[in-house]
Order: sequence, then structure tokens, then C-alpha cells
Amino acid sequence: MLPWKRLLAGFSILILVFGLGCDFDPSEPEVGDLSQIPYSPERFKVQVPAAFPELEVPANNPMTKAGVALGRKLFFDPILSRDSTQSCSSCHHPDKNFTDGLPTSKGVDLINGRRSAMALIDIAFQTKGLFWDGRARLLEDQALLPVEDPVEMHFTWPGVIERLKRHPEYPADFRKAFGITHKDSITKFLAAKAMAQFERTLVSSGATRYDLALTPGSGVFFSESELRGYEMYFDLSGGRLPDAECFHCHNAPLFSSLDYFNNGIQRVVHGNQFEDNGLGAITGNAAQNGMFKAPSLRNIAQSAPYMHDGRIKTLEAVIEHYNSGGHPADNKNPFVRKLGLTVQQKADLLAFLHTLTDTSFAQKPDYQSPF
Ligand code: HEC
Ligand code: HEC
Repeated sequence: MLPWKRLLAGFSILILVFGLGCDFDPSEPEVGDLSQIPYSPERFKVQVPAAFPELEVPANNPMTKAGVALGRKLFFDPILSRDSTQSCSSCHHPDKNFTDGLPTSKGVDLINGRRSAMALIDIAFQTKGLFWDGRARLLEDQALLPVEDPVEMHFTWPGVIERLKRHPEYPADFRKAFGITHKDSITKFLAAKAMAQFERTLVSSGATRYDLALTPGSGVFFSESELRGYEMYFDLSGGRLPDAECFHCHNAPLFSSLDYFNNGIQRVVHGNQFEDNGLGAITGNAAQNGMFKAPSLRNIAQSAPYMHDGRIKTLEAVIEHYNSGGHPADNKNPFVRKLGLTVQQKADLLAFLHTLTDTSFAQKPDYQSPF
């Protein structure tokens, strides 16, 4: 090799080494290091209607503005599903009281699950178990499940975490929400905590016709029909009207007792013949077969179709069901019995259920997709 060529080669090596050296300059932050991003958590205070119970937040997951914002992003982001087509909001859509409008939900593989997506309104107050059968306790536990469920997002958590680490925004979002100093500290547990924080913000507005009609000085009054429906719903008419018994299981202010009952929708001869055993399958107690959570009826007009398997299409048909007394079963609750409502009384009960429609809740900007 000619000397000048040797010199050139030497130079190129020098440039190469120097160039690479720049990437590894020890004064620059390591790739994935998040410690330079400010972490200054601000408490998030949820507005709760006056008549509501206190909102309980687990001590290990205090709500912060950055935590709620991250949870909202994750909730609406299809990044959580295997083929990036489905987010939590695909099945829990704000327009539909956070349900999907289908009898039973379809996952990414278009396989139908056997149950109907549940409304998430006032989910923070569900202290007696989550799901139709109560099998999860905390929102933090529940939020871990859809990602790997074969009839839902059908992906893996390690797969989700890889995508989040490589994402241009999420590592910083996790830093702001939880103070982690490196993107390798992103875990499924932190993702679940953030989603739980967002879900705890999904609280009724307290501004429905029902709430306002009961607030002195609001200037809102029930119509005569709504008032009759109200009296039947809460068994308040003192015998003038039939008792509809609804409040025993769907009681104010949440319009859910949070408890589990058999309300007579499944036709069975024996207690081991339910299509879906519900609570009984979880507890192993056959006397609880066919029992499901009595969900909140707030905003109920927006979450058709109804029941754990979406078998009832309209609120009119729900009222027909209760009026008929439902299918007999040993453990059917005695409050589900023939009611003898007239056509007018059924219309009155329906008018009352519509006073629970919560337009401010459905349209609240903070509950919409951030994308
Ligand atoms: C494919 C549709 C689908 C997707 C996607 C989905 N869910 Fe659900 N969700 C359901 C169904 C169906 C149920 C009821 C399941 C049961 O009872 O077995 C449910 C129940 C719930 C409940 C319990 C509500 C209650 O009142 O007890 C919560 C909370 C929830 N989902 C949150 C989420 C979150 C958070 C995500 C995203 C990580 C998500 N869901 C993704 C369909 C879906
Ligand atoms: C004994 C308790 C009980 C009584 C009384 C009762 N319900 Fe229910 N209700 C339930 C249970 C449990 C479910 C869920 C059942 C299922 O999905 O299998 C339910 C479901 C519903 C749903 C569907 C909710 C949804 O999100 O799909 C509506 C609407 C409803 N009830 C309205 C009423 C009305 C109106 C009355 C009074 C006429 C009433 N209920 C009386 C226990 C009760």
C-alpha cells in the first residue's frame, strides 16, 4: 500500500472511531434514561355527586393528573392488542355508556366472547367485585386481563411492554406518572395502575333529570309519568300503584346494590343447567349458579342490549321481563315476581329509567379519546 493510502486509511479509522465515540459520550444521558424528565406529581381530585359514597382509592395507587392522562391514553390505544386494531374503548365506548352496543363482545380474532361488555359508569364504587360474576376485586387486577384474553385483545404483556418502551411518547408518560428513571422500568403493573386511575374518574355527573328533580331549587321537576315511575321503582306509592321492586337490587344513589342475584332470565329445570353459572362458577357454590351482578342503571338507556349475555334488546323488553316475573328457579330472588303493571304503568317505569340518562357524563371531554 502506498504511504498516502495508508495515511488515508488511518484517517478513516480515526474518523470512524471518533464518530462512534460521539454516540457513547458519557456526558450524554444513556438511551432509555428518563431521569432528566421532570417528575412532579399533582394530585387528581375526582368530583363526586353529593349523595354518593366516598370514592376509595387504594393507598398504593394514588391518583395524579399524569397518571390519569397516561391511563386515558392506554385505554384508547389499540397498541394493547395483538394486531393493533382493538383498544379497551372498542368494547367500552363513551357514546354507549362505555359498552359496545353488542349482545356479546368480539375480540381481535372476531371470536365472540360469551358475555356482554359492561358499562364503566361509577366503576370506582364497585366494591363488591368486578365482572358479571365478581371474579376480580380491584381495577388494577382487572386491567391486566383483557390484553391476554384470547377472545379480547389476544396479545401478551411482554409484547405490549416492548411496544411501549420503543414508543416515542410512552416512556416519558410513565416517567411523569410514576417517577421511573429508566424505560426498562415500565411494567404491566404500572400500565394497569394508570388505566385504573383513569377508570376511577368515570363518575356520574349528578346532573341527570333524576338527580335534579330531587335537588330542591333546581327548577327541574318530574313529569307526572316520570313521578309515577319513580314511585313504582322505589315502592313509594303506598298502594296507589303496584310496587315494581326494582330498588331492592338497583338502589340509589348508584342504582346498583353491587350484589349478585338470579333475576330469572335463564330458563332451567335444575340449578346445574344454567348456560352460564355466573357467581356459582367462581364460588363453587351451586346455590349461586345463575347469579350475576345487578349493574348500575345510571345512563341505562345508552347501554343496550341488556343483561350479561345481551339477550334483551330494549328497555321496554326488560320491563316486560320483570313484569312477567321471569323464569322460575330455586334461587330466583323473590322480588322478581309477577308485577301486574298496566300498559300505562310500564310506560311510566320506562319514563323514569330515562331520567337516569347522563348526557354530561357521556359527552365529558375528559372521557373521550385523546387521539
Ligand atoms: C373484546 C371486548 C373487550 C375489550 C377489548 C375490553 N373489555 Fe372490558 N369487558 C368486556 C366484557 C365482555 C366484560 C364482562 C366480562 C365478564 O363478566 O366475564 C368486561 C368487563 C370489564 C370491567 C368490569 C366492569 C364491572 O362493572 O364489573 C372492566 C373494569 C373492564 N371491562 C375494563 C376494561 C379495560 C381496562 C380494558 C382494556 C385493557 C377492557 N376492558 C377491554 C369486554 C371487553
Ligand atoms: C332481585 C334483584 C333484582 C330486581 C328486583 C331487579 N333487578 Fe334488574 N337486574 C338484576 C340483575 C342480577 C341483573 C343482571 C342479570 C344478568 O345479566 O344475568 C339485572 C339487570 C337489569 C338490567 C340490565 C342492565 C345491563 O346493564 O344490562 C336492567 C335494565 C334492569 N335490571 C332493570 C330493572 C328494573 C327496571 C327493575 C324493576 C322492575 C329491576 N331491574 C329489578 C337484579 C334485579
